[in-house]
Amino acid sequence: MKFTVLSLFPEILEAYFTSSIMAKAVEKGVVSYANINIRDFAADRHRTCDDAPYGGGAGMVLKPEPLAAALDSVGAGCLRTVCPTPSGRLFTQAYARELSAEREVVLICGRYEGIDQRVLDLYVNDEVSVGDYVLSSGEIAAMLVIDAVYRLLDGVITKESLEEESFCGGLLEYPQYTRPEVFRGLRVPDILLSGHHANIRQWRREQSILKTKKNRPELLGAADKI
Ligand code: ADE
Repeated sequence: MKFTVLSLFPEILEAYFTSSIMAKAVEKGVVSYANINIRDFAADRHRTCDDAPYGGGAGMVLKPEPLAAALDSVGAGCLRTVCPTPSGRLFTQAYARELSAEREVVLICGRYEGIDQRVLDLYVNDEVSVGDYVLSSGEIAAMLVIDAVYRLLDGVITKESLEEESFCGGLLEYPQYTRPEVFRGLRVPDILLSGHHANIRQWRREQSILKTKKNRPELLGAADKI
């Protein structure tokens, strides 16, 4: 799968694509990427990419011309194009799964007060918010979207890990323990040392329900139906 990211700070994304598990996925050929600098498409001497909003108001808006030229250069017109923005629909695991079926996704990293609406109208399929808070940069939101998507691709992490994690089955993940058996006086629950797989499965399910009840009670109704 290819991620094409348009940004005014492509170096932020470059560090992400060349580190850790993502770097391995790129090396294996599971992921490819293109980091495009929107400023390279600005036509004036100062390479201006922002301007004051029509109608007044605080802050600056990403100008349409450089961004549209950058989008044309990557053929965004025929690709799934996503714009992370706090005013988008909420990003979810289900949407991450949907994006992971695409061959290529284009992401636009907004800055300032937002991007000119006409670029959204002409190019963007989905505006997505990564949560009900405002980040100072679209790059962080784009990385979050990419991260949730690429780890679902075959060959990135094991199938078992994907099957057991939070949101799979509509519940949050049960607590995990590793060696030592006692840490600062706290013991690993006996059941995990018992070797009794059916009981362990049952305990983990109960723990998942307890955790979901405590941290995300609104998920429980939906989980019952899965
Ligand atoms: N850019 C700034 N805040 C954001 C958010 N919550 N979601 C997506 N993009 C953003």
